[in-house]
Amino acid sequence: MDVTLDYDQQVFQDVLNKTTELILNEYLNASQKKGFNVQSELEVQSWFDEPLPMEGTNVIALLDDVKTKVLDTATGNIGPNMYAYVMSGGNQVSAVAEFIMSVINQNNTKWHLAPSMTEIEKRVVKWTSEMVGFTLDAGGAMVSGGSEANLAGLTVARNIFFKKNNIQKNGLFNLPPFTLYCSQETHNCIDKSVSLLGIGSKHIRRIETNDDYTIHIPSLINQIEQDIKDGFTPFCIIGNAGTVNTGAIDDLKALADVSARYETWFHIDGAYGGLASALPEIKSLYAGIEKADSIALDFHKWLYQPFEIGCILVRDWKKLNETYYKPADYLESVQNDLSLRLEFNEHYFQLSRNAKAFKVWMSVKAYGFSKIIKMIQKDIALTQYLSKLITESDDFEIKSVSALAIVCFRYLGKPGTHHDISELNHKLIAALEKDGRVFITGTKLRNEFVIRACLINHRKQTQSVEYLLKVIREVGAELC
Ligand SMILES: Cc1ncc(COP(=O)(O)O)c(C=O)c1O
Repeated sequence: MDVTLDYDQQVFQDVLNKTTELILNEYLNASQKKGFNVQSELEVQSWFDEPLPMEGTNVIALLDDVKTKVLDTATGNIGPNMYAYVMSGGNQVSAVAEFIMSVINQNNTKWHLAPSMTEIEKRVVKWTSEMVGFTLDAGGAMVSGGSEANLAGLTVARNIFFKKNNIQKNGLFNLPPFTLYCSQETHNCIDKSVSLLGIGSKHIRRIETNDDYTIHIPSLINQIEQDIKDGFTPFCIIGNAGTVNTGAIDDLKALADVSARYETWFHIDGAYGGLASALPEIKSLYAGIEKADSIALDFHKWLYQPFEIGCILVRDWKKLNETYYKPADYLESVQNDLSLRLEFNEHYFQLSRNAKAFKVWMSVKAYGFSKIIKMIQKDIALTQYLSKLITESDDFEIKSVSALAIVCFRYLGKPGTHHDISELNHKLIAALEKDGRVFITGTKLRNEFVIRACLINHRKQTQSVEYLLKVIREVGAELC
């Protein structure tokens, strides 16, 4: 009967000491980390190929195993040589916060299950609104990341927009089809969300873009007019506050105006670039963000949080409540002062949920938001430096620039030696992964394959981007 999973205090102290040693070692070696640790798939699979362990292992020995199989082989997200996808380097204070959060194991679903954590999450929602210049009355919730934040925004959009049809009860049956609008550069999580919401991805109108990859407003208006003529209900316009491919920021003010004119919901995907709106020098590019009905943000990008955490903001708490609240006897509270208690389960889909906001709260307090802004500025400055090096070279060509920290380019090799530059760059990406020193991936711009460098990492320095080009040249020369 009297058994527990807990270790004796001294044994656990040894485990913590060993863990501390491993963690310090990670940060000590962060600047040396390779982008990718090259191991065969079969090799990695073999390390974990074992039957269900019925008997326990000594935890210190287990930590040694974790060091060799997990830490020493981890993809270099925390180091300066990661440029692939949109990966941030995390931060130390948030790592500590996650550990503390797990220890007290609060369920941030009802106020009395997590009083301080609930108030912290409410505060982080307010701070986030302040960071991006949104209404301070905004309601919001921490979610797993950008995809989920967009899904949440579009769920609220659908439920509030069609409230008069009581779609929560009736479903979408018998409603004339409705349409959503966004640029061709919009992230695929919008397609996923629209499919999940029963709207059908064929009702997304992906509008052509300008030369700078921002949405072409006249084409948007033409498409809306055409859809109205064809019997569709234009329901939502989605603006990008930084696209995933190039960091393009749509004309949010123009989108807000079009949205007001056609009385649609206005949602902004700010997962990649939303937080950079706090930078005074580029704030004007985000004019109109304050007019959104909902904004999706991602803190494991430009708030340098460890995975995973995103945030959905809507204009007020009531909209979340109207979307998500479903009464249940077993969730009723008996306290008298309920009115002061915000119940997150009544404002979001999840019932049990961890206290994700805690790491944001601790890290923003520890570093101060000004310092985080400085890190974003540094990422952007390094990207501009990288763009300059590329532009000035004769063996690279630049394919996109942005006000944010993404640059797309191609390696050309020695002048005149390569006829199929796309093929060369495809091969190069695979060769770079095999080399492992830096980790970088590609995308397509207007159907052309390009290499894409994304610089969201406060540990990158000037020499990091010089090293990136050096490695590409070395690996590229071998390919030639
Ligand atoms: C613009 C944009 N939207 C959405 C997402 C999806 O975010 P997540 O990977 O956190 O789900 C990303 C990810 O890079 C993004 O850049």
